[in-house]
Amino acid sequence: MPIAVAGAAVVAVRVAQGALSSALYAVTGVYESGLYFSDYAAFRQEARTRLPRPGLVPAPSGFERVELRNLTFGYPSGEGPALEDVNLTLHRGRTVALVGENGSGKSTLAKLLSGLYTPQEGSVCWDGTDLSGVDGVSLREQIAVIAQDHTHWPLTARGNTVMSSARCAERFARAAAASRADSVVAGFRNGWETLLDKRFAHGVEPSGGQWQRLAAARSFYRGDDGNAVPLLIADEPTAAMDARAEHGFFESVHAHARRTGAAVVLITHRLASVRMADHIVVLERGRVVAQGTHAQLMEEDGLYRELWELQASAYRTPAVPEPRTP
Ligand SMILES: Nc1ncnc2c1ncn2[C@@H]1O[C@H](COP(=O)(O)OP(=O)(O)OP(=O)(O)O)[C@@H](O)[C@H]1O
Ligand SMILES: [Mg+2]
Repeated sequence: MPIAVAGAAVVAVRVAQGALSSALYAVTGVYESGLYFSDYAAFRQEARTRLPRPGLVPAPSGFERVELRNLTFGYPSGEGPALEDVNLTLHRGRTVALVGENGSGKSTLAKLLSGLYTPQEGSVCWDGTDLSGVDGVSLREQIAVIAQDHTHWPLTARGNTVMSSARCAERFARAAAASRADSVVAGFRNGWETLLDKRFAHGVEPSGGQWQRLAAARSFYRGDDGNAVPLLIADEPTAAMDARAEHGFFESVHAHARRTGAAVVLITHRLASVRMADHIVVLERGRVVAQGTHAQLMEEDGLYRELWELQASAYRTPAVPEPRTP
C-alpha cells in the first residue's frame, strides 16, 4: 500500500472514531435529558391533580369546634393507611395532646388538621363545614403550625417570626417573650435584624433549640388585625430545647390557648408535659386507642400508662453507685 494511502486511512479511522464517540456522547445526553423531561411531565401531571377545584368557598372565619369524623388517610407510597377511622373533637381555648409511639400517625393527623393533606375517607369539619369544600389558602391563613421538620428560612430573626402575618408590635413582643426567642435574639449583635444564615455577611447559625424557640415565636405571632389564629398545631416543638425552655414553652402554650381562645394541638413524647393538656388522645398504628384526661388514662391499663410509667421510672431509678477506686 502506498504510504500516502496508509496515512490517509489512519487519519480517516481516527476521525471516524472521534465522530462515533461524539455521536454516542450526544445520544447519552439526549437520553439523560429525556429522563429529566419525563420527570417534568410527571410533575406537571401531578400538579394538575392538585389544583384547587372550582367552586370552593372561603374557609369560615374561626370555629367553636373542629370535628374529625371517620378519618382515613394513606400515603401513595405507603403499604397500608397511616390513619384509620379517626374520630376526634377539638374545642376553642382547649389543648389536646396527641401521644403515641414513632410511626403511629401523629404528624399525619397534624397535616390533615392543618389542611395540607386531604383525607381519602371521612371529613374534617369546622362547626359543620366540611373543609374539603373550602379554599385551602383562606383555611391555612387561620392555622399556625410548628412542624416537626420546621424550615430554617434564610431571613432575619424578625422575618423568620413575622413571615407573611400583618405587623403588630404588641403581638410580636408577646410572642417573643412566650417562646423565649427574645433571650436568643438578645445574644445576637444585630438583635432581631440579624440574618439567620451563615452564608451572608454577619449572618449567624442558631442552634437546634434556638431555631425551635424562633419557630415557636412564629406560631404564637401568626394572625391578623391583632388577633391570633384560632388553631395552633405544635408537632414536637420542644425536642431540641433545654429543660427550662421546654417547661416555659408548655406553660406558654396553655396560657396562649386560654388568652386567645385558640384550640391547641400538641404532639410530644414528653409525657410530663402532656399531663397539663385538657384532653389526651393516644394513637397506635394509625388508630385512636384511648382518649381522656391524664387521670382517666392512668386508671386504664393501656398504652398511655405503660409509656408514662416507663418515662417516670427513669427518674425513680436509685442513684448510680460511685465508681470504686482501685
Ligand atoms: N411522606 C410519607 N410518605 C409515605 N409514608 C409516610 C410519609 N410520612 C409518614 N409516612 C408513614 O406514615 C406512618 C405514620 O407516620 P407519622 O410521621 O405520622 O408518625 P408519627 O406518629 O408522627 O411518628 P414520630 O413520633 O416518629 O414523629 C408511618 O408508618 C410512616 O412510615
Ligand atoms: Mg411525627
